[in-house]
Amino acid sequence: MTIEHKTSGSANSTFPYLYAPIYRNLSTIHINAPENAFADTVLFPGDPLRAKFIAENFFDDAKEICNVRNMLGFTGTYKGKRVSVMGSGMGIPSCSIYAKELITDYGVKNIIRIGTAGGLKGVKLGDMVIALSASTDSNVNRMRLLGLDFAPAADFTLVKNSYAAAKKKNYPAIVGSCFSSDLFYHPMEGLHDRMEKLGILCIEMEAAGLYGICKEYGANPLAILTISDHIRTGESMSAEERQLGLSKMIEVALEAAV
Ligand code: HPA
Repeated sequence: MTIEHKTSGSANSTFPYLYAPIYRNLSTIHINAPENAFADTVLFPGDPLRAKFIAENFFDDAKEICNVRNMLGFTGTYKGKRVSVMGSGMGIPSCSIYAKELITDYGVKNIIRIGTAGGLKGVKLGDMVIALSASTDSNVNRMRLLGLDFAPAADFTLVKNSYAAAKKKNYPAIVGSCFSSDLFYHPMEGLHDRMEKLGILCIEMEAAGLYGICKEYGANPLAILTISDHIRTGESMSAEERQLGLSKMIEVALEAAV
């Protein structure tokens, strides 16, 4: 299925759905979707084109609902239940802007990040880490607690549902800790050794920010992370492995959402 691209503005003739009387044009600074356009649960991949891929290949009746800066969002149904997907961009600042507006302006209740991560000791390529906690070198969560360390956790129900969904399908899922880094290219020597010592399984760039934003504004967060490359061994997934691994993670996230 192909979804036509919405060219500009928050409503146009290509998308008469946007004119439906129950929808008011509620644009925020970064999201030009009408009111009620998002489902209670939003899947949140970094890449907006992955959001499009998910809508086209996993949703029924998908419609594009926003596209400011090409940060595409879609709503459709999965197994008959309304669900949305939107790109978050890369890094805590980008992901925080969209997550905040989804919660405070669109009433979103559950945000499930689906992304890739670099693996450390204890995981292998293709494993899926269901991130119970997210350590970080970012200052965002410290700012939330007046300079003290705030440790936002994933939502227990989403963790439980996604782990159960992965186990039912026999997918390789591990519940554990990730690290959300502000720097993809990190200069700190010995950092990976310390992370492994502390039981951190993988590195990505958004989960700690998403968890903090959700706690701040009252939504339930989860990050599910597929190990796409291994920091210790230098291995990385081939294009086909990546597609398969990502599809498994999308299925798990959707099962957790419904
Ligand atoms: N570091 C940070 N983010 C990532 C990595 C990594 O090694 N791999 C995939 N996302």
